[in-house]
Amino acid sequence: MAEFTLPKNSKVQKGKKYPAKAEAKNVRTFRIYRWNPDDTQNPRIDEYEIDLAACGPMVLDALIKIKNEVDATLTFRRSCREGICGSCAMNIDGTNTLACTKAIDECKGDVKIYPLPHMPVVKDLVPDLTHFYAQYASIKPWIRTQSAPPPDQERLQSKEDRAKLDGLYECILCACCSTSCPSYWWNSDKYLGPAILLQAYRWIADSRDEDTGARLDDLEDPFKLYRCHTIMNCTKTCPKGLNPAKAIGEIKKLMVERKGV
Ligand code: SF4
Ligand code: SF4
Ligand code: FES
Repeated sequence: MAEFTLPKNSKVQKGKKYPAKAEAKNVRTFRIYRWNPDDTQNPRIDEYEIDLAACGPMVLDALIKIKNEVDATLTFRRSCREGICGSCAMNIDGTNTLACTKAIDECKGDVKIYPLPHMPVVKDLVPDLTHFYAQYASIKPWIRTQSAPPPDQERLQSKEDRAKLDGLYECILCACCSTSCPSYWWNSDKYLGPAILLQAYRWIADSRDEDTGARLDDLEDPFKLYRCHTIMNCTKTCPKGLNPAKAIGEIKKLMVERKGV
């Protein structure tokens, strides 16, 4: 293990360098943000040389290899390994994305990995999502009804109404979009951000939900909804190809329509 040199004036501490083994055939360097609450060397960038000839194709494969074979202290979240759970969201090569679906080959030069931006860090690549989840809970993400359910069957939905949820139900709440949104960076205490607003619209758009008025009332607020300035970072970054900016636009349209403007 050796130390590598950082540029002059960098606020990041000198990190550790973990060179590849001499017999490595296809070496790629991973530069990874480290932050440890029990450490005084914060933050720092550690450099790991990995032999891609002995590594899977995705960034998450490299992270798992580092943790298993090189440095067990590296901390990150992951679960499904196939873009379903949203756990492995992080900033890779300058973009918020999922480590399990981001191919190493798609990254330019050294692979630079940081936690999702503008979130408190628990350790290394693990952001604290407590506030994000509290915001999710605040929109009451379940079907709310006033009418009695039909006897002996579920509340049904036509194929056309079901299709209105396409592009919404696929959201895995990875937070890549919200943490790429400048409005959310500066106002996340009050602005719900694109992920939660897309989820809010998912319930507003559901034909079985009977609380649309109350849902819109809850969002009628200068900060919760109207801090979106249509910058579109959210849609550009979503690793599931969704369009949170469009969902926000649909909510704003409903707000205007119900006022009869
Ligand atoms: S809209 Fe996309 S980026 Fe945002 S939380 Fe959902 S899946 Fe993640
Ligand atoms: S469109 Fe709205 S939510 Fe999306 S990045 Fe821009 S300001 Fe944020
Ligand atoms: S590990 Fe589940 S989305 Fe990447």
